[in-house]
Amino acid sequence: MLSEFARDLIAGLATRPHSISPKYFYDIEGSRLFDRICELPEYYPTRSELQILQDRAGEIAALAGRGAEIVEFGAGSLRKVRLLLQAFKAPARYLPIDISGEHLRDAAGILRGEFAGLDVQPVVADYTQALQLPPARGTGQRIGFFPGSTIGNFTPEEALVFLQRAAEMLRGGALLLGADLVKDPQVLHAAYNDAQGVTAAFNLNLLARANRELGANFVLPQFAHYACYNAPRQRIEMHLLSRVRQEVAFAGQRFSLDEGESLQTENSYKFTIEGLRALARRAGFRPGPVWTDPARLFSVHWLHAP
Ligand code: AVJ
Repeated sequence: MLSEFARDLIAGLATRPHSISPKYFYDIEGSRLFDRICELPEYYPTRSELQILQDRAGEIAALAGRGAEIVEFGAGSLRKVRLLLQAFKAPARYLPIDISGEHLRDAAGILRGEFAGLDVQPVVADYTQALQLPPARGTGQRIGFFPGSTIGNFTPEEALVFLQRAAEMLRGGALLLGADLVKDPQVLHAAYNDAQGVTAAFNLNLLARANRELGANFVLPQFAHYACYNAPRQRIEMHLLSRVRQEVAFAGQRFSLDEGESLQTENSYKFTIEGLRALARRAGFRPGPVWTDPARLFSVHWLHAP
């Protein structure tokens, strides 16, 4: 039985141009590297978003009202949702949605300990697919939370579908959405090509993970991290470039890579405030307040779900 990772990597290497979903970055080592990325001086998104959430927590809490429940898409950084739970008036329930049951249990345990009386109800599911939430409890609003500009990993079509489903799920409530902004390409470039090489290690870890989990024989020094801003498409692209013509084998199959050939590992779309609001409107939301950091690097949107 092949894992989903094995099947997707086989499919990605069997077609050209080669690509694989960025969701496979996040094994234990990849999650550790991502946490280090978030601390890098060049990687502004995490810092900027935390700053916005901290500065605006009171305003956000007032919009959410008393007894709201928070539905988080991905059991992400506890730091972010903690800021909301601390500011909200008597939050009734926290529903993190994640495919990793283990990750969810850990997050749930920690928050139950910190917020006495908070009902934490993890939902093991893939939030990129249609899913059924447990029925609303109480009279508070249901507030979705999708921070980190993870929405930037979707294609524009996928982002629209995701937002349409979210609007339906959150009817009568709202979505609090973090979105990275279009900006000077040099700033973007630096954020994905940090001086310490942590982003390079994060990218290459995908191959190391394939060696560990799938018994693949990728020779890591024979691949180069490459990240660039594709301005017409408003996205950072991450690639692993084959430095030489080479073959790799796993799961009983062999794949060839030419010198200079790429395996694309991620798209990270950047947004304008108006572009994001237009997308949200098309998905059925009524855009409300938008907040940015003083340098206008990152945005947080309040989107009403009528
Ligand atoms: C978690 C998808 C928002 O695109 O900035 C960081 C992942 N990739 N450095 C991003 C990432 C390279 C990150 N997201």
